[in-house]
Amino acid sequence: MRVKIYTLADDYAGYNSPFWAQHGVSFLVEVEGKKILFDTASYAEPILFNMKLLNLNPRDIDMIVLSHNHFDHTGGLLGILREINRKVPIFAHPEIFKVSFALEPEFMYAGTPRLKEEAEKLGGIWILTRDPITLMPGVFTLGEIKEEEKVEFEKGSTGLFKIEDGRVIEDKVEDEIGLAINTRKGLVVLAGCAHPGIVSMVKKAIKLSGNDKVYAVLGGFHLINAEDSRIEKTVEAFKELEVKKVYAGHCTGLKAESRFAQELGDRFEKLHSGKIIEIS
Ligand SMILES: [Fe+2]
Ligand SMILES: [Fe+2]
Repeated sequence: MRVKIYTLADDYAGYNSPFWAQHGVSFLVEVEGKKILFDTASYAEPILFNMKLLNLNPRDIDMIVLSHNHFDHTGGLLGILREINRKVPIFAHPEIFKVSFALEPEFMYAGTPRLKEEAEKLGGIWILTRDPITLMPGVFTLGEIKEEEKVEFEKGSTGLFKIEDGRVIEDKVEDEIGLAINTRKGLVVLAGCAHPGIVSMVKKAIKLSGNDKVYAVLGGFHLINAEDSRIEKTVEAFKELEVKKVYAGHCTGLKAESRFAQELGDRFEKLHSGKIIEIS
């Protein structure tokens, strides 16, 4: 199985790089000629700019997976659908349209308004499920990760809120789903923000595939505000799982990235817009 992953968006542009950075992530995952877009960052324009540089045509996108509702993963969707200009399935969790927000330092709406209706107008076909779903042989989403499925140190408060039945409750970002590819070298796991916890997401991919060999983990690991102890436990878990390659960026945070770099050496690479990862 030939897998090529193009980083279309990350918060870092890379050193001496022609690519555009922005807040969020977006990957184009090419498996056996099929093109799956995983997340759409905040804006479509930098993604389309980077695609042009990478010689990629948005019209060739076969499917879209949205990791969760936050605007830095869904904001570029409408602009990309406009370029695809035909019907395309969008895989996501049914709670992706929820009203969610942060309250510190002040109220901030976390989603993309009118995402459902506007995407439908542009040809998007929503495939909404909390279950894992297989997109093609060896390629599957992780589905919802329940609190009881999480490793102990990744349980707990998120500092985010949502409205359910008119009440303000904590938002555990249950709608975050990851994408996994079962390659010859081992599992490749992609996370948007990894709100459920990156280790819990990797463990879910192992459980679903029955393959405990993890080749690569990519994306945002959301350790930017994490306590040192959680960062240490995460790095330890990656070592225990013998993850061969770690490509972290977006909301991973400088502290966690440096710990990965110190502990994993060349096995860690910082993500940046335009970075290509090939697995054969
Ligand atoms: Fe994010
Ligand atoms: Fe997020």
